[in-house]
Amino acid sequence: MSVSIPEGLLDEWELVAGDERWHGTRSLVLPVTTRQGRAAALKIALPDDESEHEHIALQRWQGNGAVLLLRADPSRRALLLERLDRDDLVDVWDLEACEIVGSLYGRLHVPPMPQLRDQSSYVARWVGALQRDAATVPVPRRLVDQAIGLARDLCREPASAVLHGDLHYENVLCGERDGDPQWLAIDPKPTNGDPHYELEPMLRNRFEEYLLPGAVGSVRDGIRRRFHALVDAAGFDESRARDWAVVRSVLNAHWAHEEAVRTGRRPTADEREHVTACITIAKAVQD
Ligand SMILES: Nc1ncnc2c1ncn2[C@@H]1O[C@H](COP(=O)(O)OP(=O)(O)O)[C@@H](O)[C@H]1O
Ligand SMILES: [Mg+2]
Repeated sequence: MSVSIPEGLLDEWELVAGDERWHGTRSLVLPVTTRQGRAAALKIALPDDESEHEHIALQRWQGNGAVLLLRADPSRRALLLERLDRDDLVDVWDLEACEIVGSLYGRLHVPPMPQLRDQSSYVARWVGALQRDAATVPVPRRLVDQAIGLARDLCREPASAVLHGDLHYENVLCGERDGDPQWLAIDPKPTNGDPHYELEPMLRNRFEEYLLPGAVGSVRDGIRRRFHALVDAAGFDESRARDWAVVRSVLNAHWAHEEAVRTGRRPTADEREHVTACITIAKAVQD
């Protein structure tokens, strides 16, 4: 990954950077201090589709449920953010984390914005690719057909909210509001869509914890507990949330398959495990 600080930006924005560099998967983040002495974080992202609209959602949220944006230069993919605590939700008990994230959705899911793309335009494209590979993707045909049918129905409806688009355990950090600690979302890849779309990464990430010896009940139970914690905290419609979880799980399994085909090799052990996890989620939410 080759993200670097744009030439002259630190001087232009009057920022003093320390030695630390926090690499995300698609970005470079460094702690900085502003001229006024405020602790901030400078994020430089790869210039791709995903980072194109990050500043638009952050500007709209104004720090409500999300990190506060202090300054942005979209052409250089540079964002100056309030500095948050680096502890994320990865070390928080999974069900508690699901409750926290479930209660964040309502604050982030503001009315759709004309500057953002529709999530359904992406989903329609992904579903087209899934349909093309329906016979070869290593997912039971019944699930593939079900996902295609559900996606078609879900995508017919107009978008009702701004979605964060990547709300998982690592993208929620602790900050402060009115003197109290508060969990806040970072790193949006915003689109307009159906709020129920948002939930699936919370079921898939930290999948290995469902399998730990200390886990209570089966993998299926663990998935269903998280699903219900999210649905309840968000006040979601259970059946819509389930439909999106099925669609997204099957699409995720397909991507792993596509990647192996694209690079002309057999799926790796990790990819096979990932596909199995996706199938398990799609089944568990429907039991
Ligand atoms: N405002 C912030 N305050 C403190 N740390 C941050 C802040 N924003 C990002 N980080 C740190 O940088 C990492 C990567 O940032 P993130 O916005 O999630 O980018 P990526 O798209 O690369 O995942 C985060 O996981 C977190 O550790
Ligand atoms: Mg991130």
